Amino acid sequence: MSKTWRIGVAGLGTVGGGLVKFLAEAPLYAPQGGRAEVVAVSARSRKRDFDISAMTWFDDAVALAASPDIDIFVELIGGSDGPAKAAVETALKHGKPVVTANKALIAVHGQALAALAEQNGAPLLFEAAVMGGVPAVKIVREALVGEDLVAIAGILNGTCNYILTEMEATGRSFADVLAEAQRLGYAEADPTTDVGGFDAAHKIVILAALAFGSAPNYADAEIEGIEKIELADIRLAHDLGYRIKLVASAEKIGDGVSVRVHPALAPLSHPLAQAGGALNALFIEGRRVGRIFVQGRGAGEGPTAAAVAADIADVMAGAVRPVFQKPGAQLVKAPAIEGEQRLTQAYVRLLVKDEPGVIAAVSETLAEENVSIDSFLQKPVHDAGGVPIVLTTHATPEPVLLRAIQRIGALPQVLESPRMIRIARV
Ligand SMILES: NC(=O)c1ccc[n+]([C@@H]2O[C@H](COP(=O)([O-])OP(=O)(O)OC[C@H]3O[C@@H](n4cnc5c(N)ncnc54)[C@H](OP(=O)(O)O)[C@@H]3O)[C@@H](O)[C@H]2O)c1
Repeated sequence: MSKTWRIGVAGLGTVGGGLVKFLAEAPLYAPQGGRAEVVAVSARSRKRDFDISAMTWFDDAVALAASPDIDIFVELIGGSDGPAKAAVETALKHGKPVVTANKALIAVHGQALAALAEQNGAPLLFEAAVMGGVPAVKIVREALVGEDLVAIAGILNGTCNYILTEMEATGRSFADVLAEAQRLGYAEADPTTDVGGFDAAHKIVILAALAFGSAPNYADAEIEGIEKIELADIRLAHDLGYRIKLVASAEKIGDGVSVRVHPALAPLSHPLAQAGGALNALFIEGRRVGRIFVQGRGAGEGPTAAAVAADIADVMAGAVRPVFQKPGAQLVKAPAIEGEQRLTQAYVRLLVKDEPGVIAAVSETLAEENVSIDSFLQKPVHDAGGVPIVLTTHATPEPVLLRAIQRIGALPQVLESPRMIRIARV
């Protein structure tokens, strides 16, 4: 028997509007022949530049989620709490399949929502939450199900990647490029979620949960953004053969899992270094499959709507999987790793006095802490403001490295706090 799949869409902004247009242009069919049709919508204002006149309007997204006249609820409002969470919970409690692009919601409340979905026999799908049009969730959740994944690392925020790429290409400061990105609509008026690394963290937390069959654990993710990246670092890193990227990574170390986001140097020849502009890119490494690399458009109306549509098609096809690889009752947070277990290679920039013996003092301090130097670069700049020097280290237990850098910062010849950026383990 063929039936129309009645879709209710809450949120008609970039992604919601894109989805309404996508489904009007590209019909999605169920195996039995039924089609997906947006029959009801909700947003704050009814004013749209696309036609919603044939759709039932709901002022309240929660009422839409509870409506007996929809078969699938699509949440495209955003935010980890508030109306998005209330509406998703309501739909799941009514046993309705939910499709969402909301990474904040899934990263923060994924475990409870997975339990609710399971109790009510309703699928909860979120392909669009990670890397927009690149099917990262499907690769990890479906194509690699059962594989022993060991590491995931990538560029998961297009705004940061755009800013870093523009800084390098145009020689402008972080503040200048951010202001221009805001004018052009590439960055939000409040850019904190993007440039602070929080958006990338939401996404890597979701991928880590899927990869390692654990509960999403946003609270324990270590997050550092790109706000402190200076043009000098971009240029010096380049002189050393690297490019600075905001890298999100999830890695199994011993019995624990490390989930972090921070700026990192990637070798210029590495695919992550070559993913420029607003592109997203991701490495996935499994014990049997080896390394997989994907790259593409991680945001925007078209790519994100396509990912939402793919989830709707999965619901129509009857695909049912555990939300995070394991039944909800078995989902636990992966144990955090001890700092000493983490081996880190770093780039360290110092501003030192222009006098003899400085390099010896820095080298001695590092030697005392057992940190070995991989490369050393001194720029021929001599002025009253000091001399910049840059070094890279070999891999060292991270607490030891941080202690050594702190000691260097306290040397009388060192004029400002050392700048440390990790070198990506890619
Ligand atoms: N934009 C992307 O490229 C992208 C990519 C991947 C994932 N996502 C995720 O997709 C979701 C939507 O993002 P977006 O960029 O489309 O956001 P957006 O353009 O800001 O759209 C948000 C929509 O939600 C509506 N809304 C706000 N409060 C509401 C409420 N209480 N009830 C009903 N509707 C409400 C807004 O209504 P009004 O229009 O009336 O103000 C607007 O239509 C977010 O979770 C985001 O993280 C976005």
